[in-house]
Amino acid sequence: MTSDQIKVLVIGSGGREHALCWKMAQSPLVSEIVCTPGNAGIADVAKLEKVAVTDLPGLLKLANELQPGLIVIGPEDPLALGLGDQLRDAGFKVFGPGAEGAKLEASKAFSKELMDRHRIPTASSRSFDRSGQAKGYLEGCTAWPQVIKADGLAAGKGVYICADLAEAKLAVDAIMEEGRHGTAGASILIEEFLEGDEASVFALTDGETVLVLEPVQDHKQVGDGDVGPNTGGMGVYSPVPELSKRIYKQIEQHVLLPSIHMLRREKIDFRGVLFIGLMLTEGGPRVIEYNVRFGDPECQALVRRLKSDIVPILLATADAKLSEIDTPEWENQTCIGVVAAADGYPGSPRKGDRIDGLEAAGRVDSAVVFHAGTKLTRTLDGDEEIVTSGGRVLTVTAMAKDSEEARKRAYESYDKIKFAGKFCRRDIGRRREAREATDARSREATSGA
Ligand code: AMP
Ligand code: GLY
Repeated sequence: MTSDQIKVLVIGSGGREHALCWKMAQSPLVSEIVCTPGNAGIADVAKLEKVAVTDLPGLLKLANELQPGLIVIGPEDPLALGLGDQLRDAGFKVFGPGAEGAKLEASKAFSKELMDRHRIPTASSRSFDRSGQAKGYLEGCTAWPQVIKADGLAAGKGVYICADLAEAKLAVDAIMEEGRHGTAGASILIEEFLEGDEASVFALTDGETVLVLEPVQDHKQVGDGDVGPNTGGMGVYSPVPELSKRIYKQIEQHVLLPSIHMLRREKIDFRGVLFIGLMLTEGGPRVIEYNVRFGDPECQALVRRLKSDIVPILLATADAKLSEIDTPEWENQTCIGVVAAADGYPGSPRKGDRIDGLEAAGRVDSAVVFHAGTKLTRTLDGDEEIVTSGGRVLTVTAMAKDSEEARKRAYESYDKIKFAGKFCRRDIGRRREAREATDARSREATSGA
């Protein structure tokens, strides 16, 4: 360890945190990475602790023992509970906003109110904390579909697009009467349905400076061709050629920069990543939601494409010195990430199945396998084995100059992994290729004309 090396503490246990740990482990600035609670893959690059992400006193105690030079908070739950504030108050450099900033994700009604106050384009909406009033409002709606959302954190599963009044009433009952999302559904938002293509934008900010990251595209629905229920994300690609520079600029100008101004004017100390989900409507980009953390699996593709050392970037964000760092460099290649999920996901996934083939999967050209729901156990014979322990088990990533080759490699790697009940989407990145083929045809038609 040299004198300018730091210890890093990472909080979380998903593919996102594995990707962050994997990337930080390559930094000459880091002497040691500690991750809590981590997973079987993170154990290869970090020392694991057993403190849960919502155990704030436990996490504070761990930080005090370790004295890390940087703390990276991965998921939204500890951010919403105010872990960022508590660690910052204790003198640590923390990547991740405080509770007030995290409320942008943790309460849809709060973020709507801010967006409306600061004229940030979004769907119009009404907030309700009684099911009777919500149903009364729905009875007067003439435009369908309507979108019904649990106010609080629901792991991406609290949104119902309702085609008619009957469906909408069922959704209100499920959220408010049956408590499908627990306290997250104590109040709801009923929102105008927006039409268009979805896109997301990730930007680091320390409250003053904004650093827009490369475009990256998730696949939210569980099934090929965007069918079935929403998940936390089934696969990813980056860059996103269908998101033209012109549209990206428009998003920056009309949504991202006003959002940063909004944080500033509301005096919200925000040091972390702002992840904005958008609908590209005919009238321009409109915000669907704010998140206050890296997307998962979006983060996996972003770190694979980031050529620069990530540690100075995260440190500068935590330290409010983002204006002082060099512009990050990105790999020109395409990254494709395929999520290996366990049967039952996004409902109740089966767990405890032995995972084989991880080494062979990692040997495929350019492939890196990030773990999410995995854990290391011992068999009765005392041998170590890795078993499934969650709905999204792994994200298999691969890179290549063209997306077709990247996809071939990602699926080749995915196919080497074996566990009972494994499934994935087979069309990750295909949307992009369909677009490329159309563009090529129109170029040919133009040059032939
Ligand atoms: P959220 O959890 O708010 O990101 O919503 C999950 C998904 O629901 C989004 O990715 C969209 O596909 C869809 N969605 C949310 N709000 C709307 C809306 N106002 N209009 C149309 N689709 C929406
Ligand atoms: N992949 C979407 C999310 O992390 O919210």
